[in-house]
Amino acid sequence: MSGFKLAIDGPAGSGKSTISSQIAKKLNWIHIDTGAMYRAVTLKAIELGVDLEDEKAYQFLESVKVHYQANKIYLDDRDVTEDIRSDAVTQNVSLVSSFPYVRQKLVQLQKQAALEGNIVMDGRDIGTVVIPHADVKIFLTATLEERAKRRQKENAQKGKTSQLEKVIKDLSVRDQKDSTRKESPLIMAEDAIIIDTSYLTIEEVVDKIIEVTRKKERNHGD
Ligand code: DC
Repeated sequence: MSGFKLAIDGPAGSGKSTISSQIAKKLNWIHIDTGAMYRAVTLKAIELGVDLEDEKAYQFLESVKVHYQANKIYLDDRDVTEDIRSDAVTQNVSLVSSFPYVRQKLVQLQKQAALEGNIVMDGRDIGTVVIPHADVKIFLTATLEERAKRRQKENAQKGKTSQLEKVIKDLSVRDQKDSTRKESPLIMAEDAIIIDTSYLTIEEVVDKIIEVTRKKERNHGD
């Protein structure tokens, strides 16, 4: 394994993807959004019309390529970056990502992708399962209400009106599913640094993580 590995985990709406993408841009590193990969598998399963509850239905992963590159997610060579944000995908992705077969397949791809270069990878199990030897592990949190407000704002920017109560409910259902599933649930790595982003701007969080990373890089050099 060569290069610096930065693992960023946290619940839905904690700002992981936006923050990771900005860090990667500033440092000129590679960013991999693993949530987008689980979403792409969910989208494919919906499109194929398979029984989403049946783990065997995901055998299509033997032949369909899921690939994250330069802020875009691909199913084979098709760019599905927009399509993976649909309500249908969001509502089913926790179920799809709970299947051991799906996780094994994607974790294998993620481990492979993390091998070379300076990497920022974000998800739920990066510091615990995908890159347990990451140089820096960050766990982002924020209150449920704050995360819901951010999601509501994102929806509004896309022209979609949503009730705060409904967003809070959806997020808490997803939190519950993601943290109680059997296969690599959302848990914090023992050596992770916790950052509560509730009252911080994106820039403040980005700067904080870059500062921690730089410090660690300097210590490496000693
Ligand atoms: O970060 P996100 O909301 O786009 O992630 C979508 C779903 O994928 C999330 O509900 C849980 C799952 N996921 C996962 O199980 N493991 C990861 N490393 C990343 C995401």
